[in-house]
Amino acid sequence: MSEQKFKHITERSRAIYGQGFIPLHRPVFEGNERQYLVDCIDSNFVSSVGEKVTEFERHIADFTGAKHAIATVNGTAALQVALQLAGVNRGDEVLVQSLTFIATCNSISYTGGIPVFLDVDQDTLGLSPTALEKFLKAHVEMRHGQAFNKGTNRRIAACVPVHIFGNPCRIAKTIALCDAYGISVVEDAAESLGSYVGKQHTGTFGKLGAFSFNGNKLITTGGGGMIITDDDELAHRAKHVTTTAKVPHPYEYVHDEIGYNYRLPNLNAALGCAQMERLPQMLEIKADVARRYTQCFDDMGVSYVHALSGTTSNNWLNAIIFDGLEDRNAFLKYSNDAGVMTRPIWRLLNTLSMYADCQHDGLENSRWLEDRVVNIPSSVPDGAFDH
Ligand SMILES: Cc1ncc(COP(=O)(O)O)c(C=O)c1O
Repeated sequence: MSEQKFKHITERSRAIYGQGFIPLHRPVFEGNERQYLVDCIDSNFVSSVGEKVTEFERHIADFTGAKHAIATVNGTAALQVALQLAGVNRGDEVLVQSLTFIATCNSISYTGGIPVFLDVDQDTLGLSPTALEKFLKAHVEMRHGQAFNKGTNRRIAACVPVHIFGNPCRIAKTIALCDAYGISVVEDAAESLGSYVGKQHTGTFGKLGAFSFNGNKLITTGGGGMIITDDDELAHRAKHVTTTAKVPHPYEYVHDEIGYNYRLPNLNAALGCAQMERLPQMLEIKADVARRYTQCFDDMGVSYVHALSGTTSNNWLNAIIFDGLEDRNAFLKYSNDAGVMTRPIWRLLNTLSMYADCQHDGLENSRWLEDRVVNIPSSVPDGAFDH
C-alpha cells in the first residue's frame, strides 16, 4: 500500500473523530453513570452484594435473550468459571483459536486445561469449522461417548470459539461438530455484546458464554464480566462458585467447596446499568462509524473485515488488512506518529513462550492474518449521543 493510502486512511479517522490524539476505543459516560454511582455510595452497598448487580444481570439476560446471566469481576474470570462448569478438569484438552487475546487461553490454563490451537477463518477471524472438522477427523477417538486425542491420550473436554472484534464466527457449524463429538462449547463473546447470528445473540449458542466489560469494550463497568447460560443448574453453580461457594445462612460461614471471590462489585454494576441504557443507541452510532469507514475503503481498495452475511457485528473494533508485514508495520508507524492510534492484531498465542509446546494444526490463516490485520480508531465520536 502506498503512503498516499496511509494518508487517506488516517484522514478518514480524522474526518470521523476530528483533530488531536485519537484513541483506539474510549469509554463514554454520558448517561446515568454518575447518578447510579452516587446512589450506590449512598446505599453503602459498594461491594458484591447490592441491587445494581442483580439489575445489571437482568439487563444482560434481557438484552441477549439468555435465561441466566451471572456477573463476574472480569471476562477472564467469567471464562474460567464457564470452562470449569462445562466440565474442563486438570489435564483435559481444550480446542481454541490461536488468534485471540491472551485471556482466552489463560482462562483455560487456570482450570488446569491444556490448549490445542486450531486455525481461524480468514473472513471472520473466528475459529474455522473446516479446521475443527479436519482436526476432529484426524486426531479424535471416541471412548464411552467422550472425545480423546489419539496422539496425547487426553480427553478433549471443551472448545472455545471467539467472536473477534465483534464479528460473529461460524458458530452454528462449530456447535454441530462439537455436539457430534460430545465436546462442550464455551463461547468467548467478550468482544461481541450486541452481535448476532440471524436474530440470535452471540454467546447464547454454546453451553455457556462469557462477556467482558473492560474499559476498552463497547460498554464498560471499569472491569467486569458476565457468564450467560440457559441451563438452570449451571447458572446456579456459576453464582455459587463465584461467591466463595457460601451456603446461604443468616450468620454462619459455611462454604461447601473451594469457590472464588469473583462477583462483580455493586459500584461496577452501577456503571453497567447506566451503560446498558445507552447500548441500542451506541450500536447505531458504531454501525454508522463502520459505514463511514467502509464507504471510502471500498473506493480506495482497502481491505476491511466485514461481518459475514446473515450476521450482525456490534462494530466494536474496525479492522483492515494490509498486504503484508512490511506494509502493516509502515502503516502502524505512520498512523501512530500522526496521533491516530492503531494497533496490530495479537501475536499468535502458540508463539508465546508459555504456550509454545502446545499442539496446533499449522494455523495457516492465523499466520497470514497475524502479519496483516490492524485495528483503527473505533470509539463513539464526541457528541454523537443525542442527550
Ligand atoms: C477475546 C477476549 N477474551 C477475553 C477477554 C477477557 O476479558 P477481561 O479483560 O474482562 O478479563 C477479552 C478482553 O479483554 C477479550 O478481548
